[in-house]
Amino acid sequence: MTMPAYYDFCSRVKTISGENAMEKIPGLLKGLGVRRPMIVTDRGVEAAGLIDTVTEAIDGGLDIGAIYADIPVDSDYRVVDDGAAVYQNNRCDAIIAVGGGSVIDTAKGINILASLGGKSLLGCQGAGTIRRKLNPLAVLPTTSGTGSEMTLVAVIADTERQEKMLFVSHFLLPDLAVLDPRLTRTLPDFLTSQTAMDALAHACESYYCMEKNPVSDALALRAISLISEHLLPAVRNPAETSARLALANASAMAGAAFSNSMVGLVHNLGHVVGAVCHVPHGTCMSILLPYGLEYNTHRREKAIGEILFSLAGPEIYAKTPEKARPDKAVEQIRMLNEDLHNITGGKHPRFLGEIRNKDGTPAVPRSALPEIARKTMADGARLPNPEEILPEDALMVLEHAWAGIHLDRSRIRKGA
Ligand SMILES: [Fe+2]
Repeated sequence: MTMPAYYDFCSRVKTISGENAMEKIPGLLKGLGVRRPMIVTDRGVEAAGLIDTVTEAIDGGLDIGAIYADIPVDSDYRVVDDGAAVYQNNRCDAIIAVGGGSVIDTAKGINILASLGGKSLLGCQGAGTIRRKLNPLAVLPTTSGTGSEMTLVAVIADTERQEKMLFVSHFLLPDLAVLDPRLTRTLPDFLTSQTAMDALAHACESYYCMEKNPVSDALALRAISLISEHLLPAVRNPAETSARLALANASAMAGAAFSNSMVGLVHNLGHVVGAVCHVPHGTCMSILLPYGLEYNTHRREKAIGEILFSLAGPEIYAKTPEKARPDKAVEQIRMLNEDLHNITGGKHPRFLGEIRNKDGTPAVPRSALPEIARKTMADGARLPNPEEILPEDALMVLEHAWAGIHLDRSRIRKGA
């Protein structure tokens, strides 16, 4: 492989993985000086019995100062302000975040306020705001997809202004990522499938986007092979411990990869489809991922061809002529989506036009595509994509993804 002229990579999250990983938390947090952590979670995680599982696992090792479970689905900075007040009123000295991406990002926000002081996160925006190590943060992900346990980013909404506040700092990297299959055992099949496809998108995009480097490459390829091997077994049999653990590892590895190498078209379009049409992020990722590979093949033929090895294994890779490997990789992802659609009884959508709201109406009306395409120009994920994304190209890809048809590459304006 060609070495990049320059790259940097940072991942200093201590990762513990295994069937009894949670039992290690007290000793590791005590080693960081922690005595009284606050657990941050949401009502869904609590209702699934996972907080009981966590507190039993760390029983006697730590004095839990508070359990803050008031994180709504649409968490914003006021939730962060509220959580930080609970932390301070209960004299806590660390956070244990138990949940998906929203809980983890909110916990990172609470940790900024709780560690640095101040009454509202609004005053902490801007570059260089976080200048010192924050209080210890342990993250226990209950989905295998976002990879937030390994990233230096927190996205917190400002719902009044309809904006997202982005915080990026190495001080936001958690101290501890706990990958324990008990945390994802109760995740429904369609959430397992869609969150894992988010992890697959992180791994694929970090492998072919502009800031790829040898360290993130290694993590990305291993993440892809773990997902390819273990996703269908985990969806077919939710209690399958080894498959659950493999997906949790894949998600963390893909998180570390994309935290350093960034993402591209798939996330660029997916962010806006999610924001405009209120479609879950993982759903957008599973549908858009094949188009990310198709759109970029002429710029990254070798890298996208190499992804086939991890997706399909050495035999199919060896049997496929080099020129045909990128298309074969796309085909493998489409087959995976088709299998997931069938196993989940249709709850894993295959194209944008197929997604339905709870009342049965289309979640992504075709008429919304021009607005979505326009708004993608303001999303930063377009920048590391190998091929420049023009508004007309974004609309063209969205139209194909809406109908579920292969991308007509002759229509890519820059790549012809
Ligand atoms: Fe993602």
